Amino acid sequence: MVQQLEQLEAEAKAALSEVSDAPALERFRIDYLGPKGKLKSAMSWLKDASPEDKPKLGQGLNQLKQQLEGEFKQKQETLGDAKPRVTGPAIDVTEPGDPPRMGRVHVLRQVIDELIEVFGRMGFDVAEGPELEDEQHNFVDLNIPPEHPARDPLDNFYLDATHLLRTQTSTVQIRVMEQTPPPVRIVSLGRVYRPDTHDATHSSMFHQIEGLYVNEKVTMVDLKSTLMQFAHAFFGKDAEVRLRPSYFPFTEPSAELDIKMTVRGKTEWVELGGCGMVDPNVFEAVGYDPEKWTGFAFGLGIERIAMKRYGIGDIRWFYENDTRFLSQF
Ligand code: DAH
Repeated sequence: MVQQLEQLEAEAKAALSEVSDAPALERFRIDYLGPKGKLKSAMSWLKDASPEDKPKLGQGLNQLKQQLEGEFKQKQETLGDAKPRVTGPAIDVTEPGDPPRMGRVHVLRQVIDELIEVFGRMGFDVAEGPELEDEQHNFVDLNIPPEHPARDPLDNFYLDATHLLRTQTSTVQIRVMEQTPPPVRIVSLGRVYRPDTHDATHSSMFHQIEGLYVNEKVTMVDLKSTLMQFAHAFFGKDAEVRLRPSYFPFTEPSAELDIKMTVRGKTEWVELGGCGMVDPNVFEAVGYDPEKWTGFAFGLGIERIAMKRYGIGDIRWFYENDTRFLSQF
């Protein structure tokens, strides 16, 4: 057994003396010093050794182990480690950084873009008008007389005696017709302002889409088929919509477009907006010949369209900038 030990010692020393680079040193470590190495298996000789031999053998094995480990360490220092050693700064520049938080298009803007697309396919161009308006465009040219309740200062955000934040996008009808000879086919999408008390379906600022089509021989059939096409393109073939007779100073006859929707668990008809055949007085105000030209107009609430589309139960959620809400769309 002592002989075996001497043999192992000679073999190991010879092997170590032949080591000339880091990979060879690593192989030596595995062969002799590793958990499955020759030194480890030599430890099993102990249990077969006679009681007199045991202490000597144990001592010898330990000595050999220490010796080999010492020499291994020395060689390791001169040859370096086989495993690549990390040098340089402690920061790993190859590690991916924190991804930037991506923003997204606001749900109302998404709906606006889609409305532009749907009406664009039906031939409507997009027109724009100012949010700060004068009474002439917000009321007078739209056939809304001075005594009309809609002009009550308490129902409007007046900035001075004759200027106010527009209460409706119908103002853009006037601005477009003032500048463009007929025929006209436009939609205009933007903000309107009314001092309404905020609740689940009312806000003092909201968005409307206005539509205007002027040509010869335009009829109520054109209006109804345009709105139905929109409703089915936007809400699907099964969308339930209806036109209900109504009154607006700038259209004759007038109607309201209703859609069936569920708000806070209650299913009911909700008004999306108004529409009708352009009143001859409006054509006169903009210098169109009412004997020759006919047209229809409509104005719908964009928030209500979005609420119906996505089942949103409260108009106020659009404006709270809560990303938990906004990131769903
Ligand atoms: N401007 C109206 C409102 O805000 C909606 C409206 C009704 C617009 C009839 C129209 C229309 O163009 O023809 O309540």
